[in-house]
Amino acid sequence: MPDPMMPEAIDSAEQLRRFEKRIAAGEKIEPKDWMPERYRQQLVRMISQHAHSEVVGMLPEGNWITRAPMLRRKMGLLAKVQDEAGHGMYLYCAAETLGVDRREMIEALLQGKAKYSHIFNYPTLAWADIGVIGWFVDGAAIVNQTMLAKCSYGPYSRANLRICKEENFHKRQGYEIVSTLSSGTPKQREMVQDAVNRWWWPSLMMFGPPDASSPNSAELLRWKIKLHSNDELRQHFVDITVPQAAAVNLALPDPNLRFDEASGHWKFGEIDWSEFYEVIKGNGPCNRERMKARRDADTEGAWVRAAARAYAEKHTDTTTGAGA
Ligand code: 3HC
Repeated sequence: MPDPMMPEAIDSAEQLRRFEKRIAAGEKIEPKDWMPERYRQQLVRMISQHAHSEVVGMLPEGNWITRAPMLRRKMGLLAKVQDEAGHGMYLYCAAETLGVDRREMIEALLQGKAKYSHIFNYPTLAWADIGVIGWFVDGAAIVNQTMLAKCSYGPYSRANLRICKEENFHKRQGYEIVSTLSSGTPKQREMVQDAVNRWWWPSLMMFGPPDASSPNSAELLRWKIKLHSNDELRQHFVDITVPQAAAVNLALPDPNLRFDEASGHWKFGEIDWSEFYEVIKGNGPCNRERMKARRDADTEGAWVRAAARAYAEKHTDTTTGAGA
């Protein structure tokens, strides 16, 4: 407990009061502004996890670039996977404004100390998975990140604004693939329904554990890093996705799904949270494969980083320290 008679403690209590007043007034906090250390740590945790998710998220879809069924689909998927790399870069930059080094964040991922979204530890077994990922996974990401685009930290809010614009194309691309397959041959319909059945429940888990079991939510909501809780966003995602499934004649794999007139929401069945915790502990179907791919890429890319560093050093003007 800080001693309130100590001048630093008085300063910091006053700084905290002013900081919270700014948050309450809806002001954005910028990198050079005073912020509580805990606010900084929470942002570094979230933004770096988000950046790692974008980068690891390239793997399941990248797997289908060479097998896309036609050139138009291949170009779309290639552009999408490239966008995800870009999102990772915006987010690493946003995290760097909080005083962390990019290499430090990447090391934490490679050593298994940092998390990334559990959803990318599921396999993409068929082409239809690419459509369903765009529809569900990018759809869920848009719901979450539209909120984060309004968060209290300026650089993270602006990064999400740009990410959401691009994610909207991804979702449309995915839904178009789903809609084409669902109105195709019986085999195509079967393939897309199977993908819906496999991705539905893991997609609902993307919003994080239920509010009552979410240790970070209270603090994040208080500082307007999050503006809605995990359960509120999950419900919103279900409410918008149920009519989209009906429009393409696909069934969502939940016998308890029903519209509740009183609340105006679609009620859904129990989520198997034991599966979620197993995946985030490292025991999902593809955790080992994903981490191996990231570690191999890091090792194989070492010469590129060394060459870029050598080039930058060679072209640095030694009198001013500026690059030529
Ligand atoms: N996958 C992996 N870990 C998850 C998770 C998920 N889907 N949901 C929650 N967790 C982890 C949390 O990180 C936390 O662990 P930690 O304290 O060790 O970091 C723990 O489970 C408890 O969860 P909380 O609810 O307390 O955590 P948060 O309040 O931070 O909420 C969150 C979790 C909703 C994921 C939030 O952190 C968030 O919005 N993060 C930023 C967005 C993000 O990372 N999205 C990932 C998807 S990006 C994407 O999908 C790419 C796109 O191209 C499709």
